[in-house]
Amino acid sequence: MKIIKCNTIEDVGIAANEIMSEMLQSKPNCVLGLATGSTPIPLYREMIKDFDSGKTDYKGVVTFNLDEYVNIPTDHPESYNSFMFQNLFNHVNINEDNIHMPNGITQEECDEYDKSVMDCGIDLQVLGIGSNGHIGFNEPGTDFSSTTRIVDLAASTIEANSRFFNNDTSLVPKQAMSMGIATIMNSKKIVLIATGRSKRDAVNAMLNGPIDAVCPASILQKHSNVIVIVDQEAGENINK
Ligand code: PGA
Repeated sequence: MKIIKCNTIEDVGIAANEIMSEMLQSKPNCVLGLATGSTPIPLYREMIKDFDSGKTDYKGVVTFNLDEYVNIPTDHPESYNSFMFQNLFNHVNINEDNIHMPNGITQEECDEYDKSVMDCGIDLQVLGIGSNGHIGFNEPGTDFSSTTRIVDLAASTIEANSRFFNNDTSLVPKQAMSMGIATIMNSKKIVLIATGRSKRDAVNAMLNGPIDAVCPASILQKHSNVIVIVDQEAGENINK
C-alpha cells in the first residue's frame, strides 16, 4: 500500500483530490465508489472547486455509494442519500440516472446492487475507516468474501455515529445496507482516507497488523492498488 502523510485535514482532501481529478480527466466515464461520513468532506470540497474551475466534468461519471442506513427515509437529513446530494451531487453536473445509492432491505435488492457494482466495475473507490477498523459498514468479524447485504451496526459504530443524531444512540439506525468486502476489493483502485486521533489504532492495525477479520480494513494489504492518505494524528503510529 502506498502511504501519503499530510499535515492537515485540508491537505488530506487536496492529496485525495489529486488522485480523483486524474481519474476524472483520464476517464470521463469513470465509475466511482463513494463514501460518506466526516472524512471525505474535504475531498468533496476539492472536487467541487475543480468542477467550478472547469477542470472536471461529471456528465459521463457513474457513482455507487458504499452504504446506507436501513429504515431511514431517503430525504432524512442524516441519510447518506441526503449527505451525498448536500456535499457533492448538488454541486456538480452529474446525471442523476448515473447515481446509485444502496436502497433496500431484502437480500434480493442487495444482490441486485452488488451485481450492478460488479458489472460496471469501480475504477476508483473512496473509503474511510471506522475507529474499529471497519470499511463500509463491514464491522469486525465480517467475512472477507462478503458481498452487499444488510448488516447490524457494531455498538462502537452506533456510538460514533450518534454525533449526527443529537448524541442519542437510540436515534441511530441499527442496520445498514453495505457493499461487502469482496465487492470493495473488486475495485481497480482504492483511496482510503483517515483523519484524527480516533483512527490512529485502526490505521496501524490495517497497515501493520495481521490480515484478520478483527480489523476488516487489513484485507486491503492484499489489494494491489491502494493509496492510504492520513493526517498527522491518524498517521502517528505508522512505522512502515
Ligand atoms: P467518519 O466515518 O468519516 O465519519 O469518521 C468513517 C467510517 O466509519 O468509515
